[in-house]
Amino acid sequence: MADISKNTPNLIQKSVLSLQSGNLVAFPTETVYGLGADATNEIAVGRVYIVKGRPSDHPLIVHISSINGLADWATQVPEYAIELARAFWPGPMSLILPRTKLAQDFITGGQENVGLRIPSHPLALELLRQFELAGGKGIAAPSANRFGALSPTTADAVYQELGAYLTGSDLILDGDQSTVGIESTIIDCTGTIPQILRPGAITTKMVEELINIKLIQTADDNSVRVSGHFQSHYAPKAKVVLGENAQPGDGLIALSSVPTPPGVTRLSSPNDAKEFARNLYQALRNGDHLGIGQISIILPNGEGLEKAIKDRVEKAASSLRH
Ligand code: TXA
Ligand code: MG
Repeated sequence: MADISKNTPNLIQKSVLSLQSGNLVAFPTETVYGLGADATNEIAVGRVYIVKGRPSDHPLIVHISSINGLADWATQVPEYAIELARAFWPGPMSLILPRTKLAQDFITGGQENVGLRIPSHPLALELLRQFELAGGKGIAAPSANRFGALSPTTADAVYQELGAYLTGSDLILDGDQSTVGIESTIIDCTGTIPQILRPGAITTKMVEELINIKLIQTADDNSVRVSGHFQSHYAPKAKVVLGENAQPGDGLIALSSVPTPPGVTRLSSPNDAKEFARNLYQALRNGDHLGIGQISIILPNGEGLEKAIKDRVEKAASSLRH
């Protein structure tokens, strides 16, 4: 069992030592919490897969502290990817790029590409900086949940998901609630035109306006693996239904302008899409804690972050586990 650590003395130093010794450190990012391991340590990365219960051919995103670190991991970085990195890093965006030898098969799942991200959460950035100053090259970190479950957006949620699978030498860092609340936008930058593989807070419009290139829209014919393509992903225990009238006994997640019918448990009433995304996973978790069998979600309309919310909610609603 790993304890949750918050504001304890030398926490970052302790975390760096822990990573260097091959242990795991769960840490906050602005999107969701990640389960971190030294990205060059095969045994430590192997434990990430065991702790998550995740199939070993699912690649991991490597987190780095600065754009300079790109050269360690990627062989070719197209001009548009550099523009994206300059504009949106540190932030909720991951870039898929051709890998260097440092990105070994145990990180990429055998693919020739590697996923890279600079997160903006201050604790994550400090951890990455200190880890790199001590000689580290990057921290591999998937979302800190069991395979198929909801990503955690608080340290407590990490503890509930993975506490039983971590040891006393692993750490869970507490950096409060993740402000974005859903996973990073993943952009495949291996071709002449970028392609969004997983929608997120960095939207198609933001990307197109920045680089002045129209994006390829579908990820269907792409050979790279994005776990969101697996139907059992992002799922709570409750059955999730979309846009239906909530019945007495159900849970409801909808914008604050939508009233709560009698007998329905309101799990979240955000004022806008940002708040919707931020609270979505925690609201679903709360529904599970309350033992609610069915959660109705009414999506906000819009083409930006709303699309990413729709993506996650549809996956939760179509989960094979129901
Ligand atoms: O916001 C996030 O991205 C969070 C935080 C912790 O950074 N991380 C995260 O990691 O969501 P994970 O492993 O739960 O989801 C990353 C997704 C997976 O679906 C994986 O298949 C995809 O990124 N991915 C990673 N490397 C890839 C690669 N080389 N090619 C294609 N997809 C890749
Ligand atoms: Mg995940």
